[in-house]
Amino acid sequence: MKIAVTVNEVREQVNEWKRQGFSVGLVPTMGYLHEGHKSLITCAVSENDRVVASVFVNPMQFGPSEDLESYPRDMDRDAALCEEAGVDLIFHPEPSEMYHNGFSSYVDMNTLTGGLCGKSRPVHFRGVCTVVAKLFNIVMPDRAYFGQKDAQQLAVIRHMADDLSYGIEIKGCPIIREEDGLAKSSRNTYLNKEERQAALVLNRALSEGRKLIEAGERDAASIKDTVTSVINAEPLARIDYVEIVSWDLLEPVKNIDGPVLVAVAVFIGKTRLIDNFIALED
Ligand code: PAJ
Repeated sequence: MKIAVTVNEVREQVNEWKRQGFSVGLVPTMGYLHEGHKSLITCAVSENDRVVASVFVNPMQFGPSEDLESYPRDMDRDAALCEEAGVDLIFHPEPSEMYHNGFSSYVDMNTLTGGLCGKSRPVHFRGVCTVVAKLFNIVMPDRAYFGQKDAQQLAVIRHMADDLSYGIEIKGCPIIREEDGLAKSSRNTYLNKEERQAALVLNRALSEGRKLIEAGERDAASIKDTVTSVINAEPLARIDYVEIVSWDLLEPVKNIDGPVLVAVAVFIGKTRLIDNFIALED
């Protein structure tokens, strides 16, 4: 496994692979890798001849008061996990390699990004789309892998890849959880013992919502009420949003008559966590 820090190194390696007729999968990450990231890599390894994982804490997708500085980093551990999972090349650039002085071109999206996480994180998706567009241009993969954990991001990237005719297959992978149900996240490391226990409320609340849908409830407001009241019963939790939107244009729905995304964002102490499920998918 190689670790490349420049765009040119990646291009040269991928060009060589393409000359040999190899297919290439890309797994974009911000590092501090866990089983969730690993599941994406495993899927990419099984579907492609060569796999590139990027490890880049992208400053552009963090708001001014967000956790860019404290975001956890451990490149040695990440490299070991990637190697073990079968990654062929890690792209680990410095911010200056991705954003030269005077950088001023962005990929922005008018739909899909206004609600859910986009509402409380107004610059986030512009940063995500821009960095992912750059990664697509640098690696030019056949397939790229994203987790359903960040369901809005998955929908946004699918839309962007289609709008901008990338010709890259966007693969969505299921949410990987801890044994007690908490969705794995690099940010779980911020939680103290009490908060870690309180964080279980996200999955617990969503499970109640899922049960209602499975029992035939189709009124979005009443499902949202149930999910909201489960979360509000946890003293350490503060709701950012509880939403039910169409999957995958992310438009609010009143009556559930097709695939929907039921998504929550909740502050546990100072840590903002997200979780979701997709219901009635074909
Ligand atoms: P990051 O948070 O590191 O996540 C990288 C990928 O791993 C994303 O596609 C995310 O959805 C997926 N992932 C994280 N936790 C997961 C879990 N528990 N189960 C399944 N998949 C999981 O998302 C980003 O980085 C960035 O926004 C990025 C796309 C790299 C752009 O900077």
